[in-house]
Amino acid sequence: MTSNEIREKYLHFFKERGHAVIPSASLVPENDPTTLFVGSGMQPLIPYLLGQPHAMGSRLVNSQKSFRADDIEEVGDNRHTTFFEMLGNWSLGEYFKEEQLPWVFSFLTGELGLDPHKLYMTVFSGDSENNIPKDEESIALLKRLFKEKGIEANDVDLETEEKGYELGMQEGRIFAYGVKKNWWSRSGVPSNMPPGEPGGPDSEIFYDFGTLHDESFGKNCHPNCDCGRFMEIGNSVFMEYRKTESGSFEKLTQRNVDFGAGLERITAAVNKDADVFKIDTLSAVIRKIEELSAKKYGDSITSFRIVADHIRGAAFMIGDGVIPSNTERGYIVRRLLRRAVRHADVIGLGQGNLALLVDPLINAYEGAYPELVEQREKIVQNIQEEEQKFRTTLEVGLKTTSLVHLSQASFTAKNSFLLFQSLGIPKDIIRDLAKERGFSFDEEGFDQEFKKHQEVSRTAIAGRFKGGLADASYETTKLHTANHLVLAALRCVLGEHVHQRGSNITAERIRLDFSHPQKVAPEQLQEVENLVNQKIEESLDMMREEMPKKDAMKLGAEMEFGVKYGDVVSVYSAKNKKGEAFSKEFCGGPHVKNTLELGNFKIIKEEANSAGVRRIRAVLKAE
Ligand code: ALA
Repeated sequence: MTSNEIREKYLHFFKERGHAVIPSASLVPENDPTTLFVGSGMQPLIPYLLGQPHAMGSRLVNSQKSFRADDIEEVGDNRHTTFFEMLGNWSLGEYFKEEQLPWVFSFLTGELGLDPHKLYMTVFSGDSENNIPKDEESIALLKRLFKEKGIEANDVDLETEEKGYELGMQEGRIFAYGVKKNWWSRSGVPSNMPPGEPGGPDSEIFYDFGTLHDESFGKNCHPNCDCGRFMEIGNSVFMEYRKTESGSFEKLTQRNVDFGAGLERITAAVNKDADVFKIDTLSAVIRKIEELSAKKYGDSITSFRIVADHIRGAAFMIGDGVIPSNTERGYIVRRLLRRAVRHADVIGLGQGNLALLVDPLINAYEGAYPELVEQREKIVQNIQEEEQKFRTTLEVGLKTTSLVHLSQASFTAKNSFLLFQSLGIPKDIIRDLAKERGFSFDEEGFDQEFKKHQEVSRTAIAGRFKGGLADASYETTKLHTANHLVLAALRCVLGEHVHQRGSNITAERIRLDFSHPQKVAPEQLQEVENLVNQKIEESLDMMREEMPKKDAMKLGAEMEFGVKYGDVVSVYSAKNKKGEAFSKEFCGGPHVKNTLELGNFKIIKEEANSAGVRRIRAVLKAE
């Protein structure tokens, strides 16, 4: 079966069960400062999981483009990819475990014909620290589902991976693990979650490829062992908790289901071949590499996989408007393409040929992702240019740095980090350059330099997130609403030329950048502050509407310069009881219900930020 067929079958299966098919969101997150890229299907749906009604209803399904930059260096084995498609279905406060687990089981064993004997399940073993019980309901449901297939499914409590390696399978089919394995939130385990963040226990499905256990991973095999015998192919998160301000957990107002499954991995399981690079879409690229290089996939399997993965990732990113550069998202695309050039050379693809892989890739995806077809030229052009630039950089770099007279000293932590920082040569390429010449590479020292650099740039990134909320706590939410009021007040007092140029909101304060050519006079600032407080007292309701982008623009809703919005946008207005709006903004939330919740508003500082842009800081105080 092809991945295109499986995607269609999945969407159809859930459509028949009352789900609305929603399009994949862009890889670039909107109103979500937590990650650079969308890395799971639920990420664009956070406001709805927290209780906001979704325009398409409370049962949703899609296939979401996802990218996990953390996995770049993992690519090369049979199952890691940076870009992947996540099949997802959601219940927003509707059905729960009793429907979800049987549906997924029936989809996998019925529609896709997976042998139930090859399926193993994991569930949550509980978290005594946070008073969250073991998921006995899922165990009972899963036992019943296996029984219906004539399989007696025993459950085994493993709790941790360590215990898994120690105790092994113990003839079990359903395995309970703790917070590290069977709890899901965007930020991982409960202790890592910021206040306001939703999460919950999950139940994962593993496919057994039946390969022999490799003891270098641990004494005994178990579903979460990394030896390659088991592959995770799906995950039902029962998202019913939220972290409170005090750090404890409370139930959300609604019980949600958030299911996610790697399409590539499911396709591999259906085809009984653990190599995800053999599925239709990726193998189209692999075949083209074989043709251009006159080499076989098996000749340099790691490099073939890296080139195929990275070209696919870069093409989807460029398709979503991320252009190679030296910062943030752009650097990730650059890094993908530079690694691809390097591995193309290992294979012998031929200089300038990377862009030729784009056509077979786009052809494989054209039905599902028409944006790739629309952006074909831009994708090809960027890949061509980036390959050329990198070759020049390498050439110049090798000439102008100590690399022409290479010595062991060229690869001290500092010097090799300089190659990375000033020339943008990725770490693994620097490592190769050293090894090829018989020098050692100071991996640890490089990582330390990198960490130092990252800390500096993380601070810079945090400051640059547009409309960025530090978290979803109540204090931050209140300040977010205040941010809307102060922008509207600035426009009233200073004029319509004022627009938001950036904002950063934490639980303590607002920092808002806006366009205005000169210093704001103290009396004007006072006027702005008074107006915000007046509006807070007028008890305005924060109302949310979804509408086509062009309608929102007609309404005159404020949008932030430089931010990419989808075709359907969410608009928040602060309205009085007569329905008159004081403020209207393109925004994904969250907001308080009524401005009375804000208390007293105070501006604490006004200063220049950059040419034509001023910055104010403001706080809220309880009255
Ligand atoms: N959000 C869940 C995951 O990414 C389904 O695994």
